[in-house]
Amino acid sequence: MSDGLRGLVRAKVDPGLRGLARAKINLGLRVGARRPDGFHELTSIFVRLAVADELSVSVAGVAPTTDPDADMLAVVGPRPTPDPADDLVLRAAALLRSHAARPLPALAFRLVKRVPVAAGLGGGSADAAAALTLAATAWGIELDPSDRRALAERLGSDVPFFAANVPAARVEGRGERITPLSAPTRLGLLLVRPPIDLLTAEVFAAYDALAAGPPPTSAGAPADTGLAPAPRLESAPLPGPGAWQPRELAASLREANDLWPAVARLWPELPTVRERLERDLGRPVLLTGSGPTLVALYPSLVGAREAAHRVNLPGATVIATRPA
Ligand code: C5P
Repeated sequence: MSDGLRGLVRAKVDPGLRGLARAKINLGLRVGARRPDGFHELTSIFVRLAVADELSVSVAGVAPTTDPDADMLAVVGPRPTPDPADDLVLRAAALLRSHAARPLPALAFRLVKRVPVAAGLGGGSADAAAALTLAATAWGIELDPSDRRALAERLGSDVPFFAANVPAARVEGRGERITPLSAPTRLGLLLVRPPIDLLTAEVFAAYDALAAGPPPTSAGAPADTGLAPAPRLESAPLPGPGAWQPRELAASLREANDLWPAVARLWPELPTVRERLERDLGRPVLLTGSGPTLVALYPSLVGAREAAHRVNLPGATVIATRPA
């Protein structure tokens, strides 16, 4: 092999400049009161998945700069956000730049999107955590764990889980308290992402509106909104991660997403879609995070793959995957 070719091969496999941004699901999501900072206290079990976006980075410019807009991003597949200023990959790079507080060369990121966006699967947050790692490597910055945690927290509530680099965790607080758990590796997961985009902030706003109760009518009596009742704010504890038997786990977690009524308010077909899926798949179906992705659990990836053809929801994205 020529030196040039060897260099090319080495560059291609350099693990520091290419990374996977794995998605997550939530097994249960208990939501507490809205805090003064506008966020809600949460308790959830996050499980990292094999399905992932691919992020790579190269140094684009030789002249170091402190310009926070110097870094670039090319996206293959659906853009996580229409506004580049909101893009979590670029925000992660800009945040690390300002943390480093010295001129650094511009970075060019390339993101291959495979995780559905606005889906409750944490794709954007996973991209942000991967971008932090890759940018730090490209710039030769050694982030100590507490700085890494602090930067992750500033990028979003789900980012600390991904930045912790663990296969599963109990996640609490706004999302920053991470207690690692061992992963239920033998599980198969069928993700069904209905053709509707839900923004997390909108779902939490609907949650707050429901928790506040219906507005009084002019006569002073509560208005009959015909909506699902407000979720209980007293959170029952989630079942422990000990028993990962798919059917039992799914049945015990079916009602354990406190955001369900809020998602159903924004997307009233949710209960009907879930019932239809449960009938077609013959097992309980869970809502992950702020939705709208629905999840069925299987004893293996093969079982999830075999079930994929039974999903009959026009426009849905169907992905068979496993914890990873
Ligand atoms: O932190 P992140 O940007 O992902 O959150 C998006 C929105 O979701 C927040 O602006 C907030 O409205 C809501 N949120 C919340 N409580 C959390 C996490 C998110 O209210 N723990």
